[in-house]
Amino acid sequence: MHGDAVPLFFYSDLFLRHPETRDLFPVSMVTTRGRLVYALARIVSQADNLAELEPFLQSLGRDHRKFGAIAEHFPAVGTSLLATLAHFNGPAWTPRLADDWKAAYGLVSQIMIEAAQGDAVNRPAFWQATVLAHELRRFDIAVFRVVTSEPLDYLPGQSISMESPERPRIWRFYSMANAPRDDQTMDFHVRMIDGGTLSMVLARGLAVGARLRIGPPFGVLTYDLTSGRDVLLVAGSTGLAPLKAITEQIATLADPPRVHLFFGVRTADSLYDLADLEKMAAGYPWLTVVPAVSDDPRFGGERGPLPEVVARAGNWHEHDVYVCGPTAMVEATITQLTAMGVPRSQIHSEDLGWSEP
Ligand SMILES: Cc1cc2nc3c(=O)[nH]c(=O)nc-3n(C[C@H](O)[C@H](O)[C@H](O)COP(=O)(O)OP(=O)(O)OC[C@H]3O[C@@H](n4cnc5c(N)ncnc54)[C@H](O)[C@@H]3O)c2cc1C
Ligand code: HEM
Repeated sequence: MHGDAVPLFFYSDLFLRHPETRDLFPVSMVTTRGRLVYALARIVSQADNLAELEPFLQSLGRDHRKFGAIAEHFPAVGTSLLATLAHFNGPAWTPRLADDWKAAYGLVSQIMIEAAQGDAVNRPAFWQATVLAHELRRFDIAVFRVVTSEPLDYLPGQSISMESPERPRIWRFYSMANAPRDDQTMDFHVRMIDGGTLSMVLARGLAVGARLRIGPPFGVLTYDLTSGRDVLLVAGSTGLAPLKAITEQIATLADPPRVHLFFGVRTADSLYDLADLEKMAAGYPWLTVVPAVSDDPRFGGERGPLPEVVARAGNWHEHDVYVCGPTAMVEATITQLTAMGVPRSQIHSEDLGWSEP
């Protein structure tokens, strides 16, 4: 309703009262815009649901260590949040509302601070990583490998945030494309977004030896080892990364389930990792890989929007489903599968945030 005025008010209030917090944020605040302030208000407004929110807040608190956020910063941010809400709500902002928000902010902050302090005992605030290999598979899609200076434990399907010295304090999430290895190497698939601040650097501006900073692992798109059901994996574009990691994890099981992996893109030249997937399928009798192309009449394989290709190929209500990709593709796949009778509880998804142009 108030557009960019809300973040402008919030950040100017914070930086004037507490100039020491300015250094935590990117040099240019253009891409930051309302990310923190709207997320902050949304999270605090859900504080009556604290039990459900707690694991997420703990992860968020641990993740904030990489920004350099410390306990003393929390009251500062809380004061500016309340000042912003008071300013834009006018007479609707009563002392009672202010007290409720203050209490809610206090509870949320406490969970984040405690999680961060617990984490500081045995983990770094961020990991240093060095690029070992970088391959441009299409002009806008890269696959690259890094090694971290210290061990970084994660579950296949999770993501980490990344920062490059080329774009200081710009952190974005990327999913590990492999199951954890003993040699501390990790693979990433990055697709360049039009006008993207960091994806441009990662996809086209990295060379062997480049250094990156990496935040703690995040996310719940992880494989359910207990269900015993067969598995359907639906990947749109670089949404393949976490699903490839899960496939590698399944390959280590003594009795792997049957796995169908659909890899959907717009044009055939975007099937950037198909050769590797086909090699995996040739080696694993339980794995079937199906490439699908939506906008390329010359493609000889499955054609059409990914949810339709998946729906045509079988009846998936006995499967655990893992979906990852651009927002619209994830939403359409979930709608299609639930309409076919797949219980929502069997569908696990992660949305990369962006949509196909
Ligand atoms: C959990 C998670 C895992 C991810 N894993 C991967 C991965 O493995 N590989 C991968 O390629 N990407 C992944 N992403 C997406 C990635 O984090 C970035 O959003 C993407 O690389 C764009 O960042 P940027 O800095 O280049 O673009 P920005 O500078 O953030 O944005 C540039 C332009 O793109 C638009 N844009 C950016 N983000 C969005 C959005 N969320 N919705 C709509 N428009 C947007 C902006 O409006 C802006 O105009 C993941 C995202 C999440 C949340
Ligand atoms: C209850 C307290 C807080 C909540 C719920 C919260 C929540 C969030 C969320 C959800 C994001 C966006 C994450 C992302 O998009 O990657 C974020 C980003 C950020 N937060 Fe917080 N935060 C809180 C307190 C703080 C404090 C005290 C600081 C320190 C001053 C801080 C500094 C930052 C920074 C620097 C970013 C990155 C901004 C950007 O790059 O756009 N946060 N926060």
